[in-house]
Amino acid sequence: MSQEYIIADSRQLQKEYSEKNLHQASIIITSPPYFDVKAYGEVKSQIGYKQAYQEYLSDTSNVLQQCYGISSDDATLWLVVDTIQRNRVLFPIPFDIQKTLTEYAVSGDSDQQTWILRDVIIWNRCKNLPWSSKGHFKHEFEYILFFSKNENYKYYLDRIRNIDYSSEWWLSYPERYNPNGRPPSNVWDITIPIRGWGNGYQQHLCPFPFPLIERILTLSTDEGDYVLDPFAGSGSVMAIADQMGRNSIGFDICEDYKTKYESQVLIGAQTYWQNRLIEIELERERAEHFRNTNIKLRKVKSGIKLAKIIKQALNDNSATYIIVDGNELDISLLVLQSQIYGQITDEQYIDDLKKLESEYYVKINILHKTKGETAIIELGHDNLFAYTSHRIYRTIGAFSISQVLNDTFKPSYVFSNIHVNIQNPDDFLNKNVNNL
Ligand SMILES: C[S@@+](CC[C@H](N)C(=O)[O-])C[C@H]1O[C@@H](n2cnc3c(N)ncnc32)[C@H](O)[C@@H]1O
Repeated sequence: MSQEYIIADSRQLQKEYSEKNLHQASIIITSPPYFDVKAYGEVKSQIGYKQAYQEYLSDTSNVLQQCYGISSDDATLWLVVDTIQRNRVLFPIPFDIQKTLTEYAVSGDSDQQTWILRDVIIWNRCKNLPWSSKGHFKHEFEYILFFSKNENYKYYLDRIRNIDYSSEWWLSYPERYNPNGRPPSNVWDITIPIRGWGNGYQQHLCPFPFPLIERILTLSTDEGDYVLDPFAGSGSVMAIADQMGRNSIGFDICEDYKTKYESQVLIGAQTYWQNRLIEIELERERAEHFRNTNIKLRKVKSGIKLAKIIKQALNDNSATYIIVDGNELDISLLVLQSQIYGQITDEQYIDDLKKLESEYYVKINILHKTKGETAIIELGHDNLFAYTSHRIYRTIGAFSISQVLNDTFKPSYVFSNIHVNIQNPDDFLNKNVNNL
């Protein structure tokens, strides 16, 4: 992957891009200086340093507008900014920048457009200084403003969904849970790197935490994309982008940071990513396991519900019901009677069937057979698992097909070749899904 850490004033971004013939950016992840709060190194021309607030806003917004000009149509901009206080008055920098940006847009002129604000994320930094003062609570979060140019941008939400097993409801009500996990909220808890707390790699006044960058890149980029940080600082965005197979370009006015980026941050990012790869594989296994289990539970539960409806309609207590697994979201419900009396039409419960299919997001095929018919031979010689409607996630036990077909067999069971047997839901909290 290519990486270019350029020492330059990002107010000259477009000029640098055309002179150096740099590749269009697919994403911009950055945090500008927070007005005059911190002096980054000795460089006096840095944005924020001894500037009036309006000048600072105008310079920062100008850089972001230049990013608009050198990025692809489907690009996104992720801006991490904090508010500041002056004489006990709060300056809402993130929203002042956003407002200043809107001044670049000339209505109706497609060449004069600017970033569109999509969402605002609260980044809970988890570790904070314990101070507060009159009128100002203990400060715990920063804003992340998320912009795009139009409706067409990369946003792979499934990649960052949460697999949360902490409540047992998902076992009894699988239809209420997305098999891919919960959607992430707009509050992100990500611990800020603090120098002197074991992080020897990011020697900068306010480096991004690596997990924050990873999350945004995972959500909004693909391998091979071009990542830009116009206020690169420690170069953390570039270093994580590189580990994740993305090309990166960074600008900073302070030369020292580039040296540290090369000698420390790249190594830190490498170590971080090696550990993450192991965790990511475990997370992938857990997500896959959750998805498979959720789908199995949907199939068993919807099959049991439909069996109950058909049982009432047929008024035949000796009928046996077998849920037969199909492709991804398909099942067949085998309704086996000793003898089929007259012509059975499923029309009387077609509405219930449609309702179940849409509620459980499965496709159900009903097959009426006599117990002597060969249809069940398709099930092979494997055992069938018995379920009752009050606990769908733990089978009552396994039974042979001849046992299942025995008329005296407990008629309240519904059988299936789908196996779900979760003894202790807490096991799902255990990282090692192989134990389940
Ligand atoms: C909030 S810090 C960015 C920290 C960065 N996100 C990280 O992970 O390390 C802002 C950076 O902007 C840089 N900067 C200030 N004025 C600049 C300018 N005119 N052009 C380029 N960089 C500038 C500062 O040197 C500082 O490193």
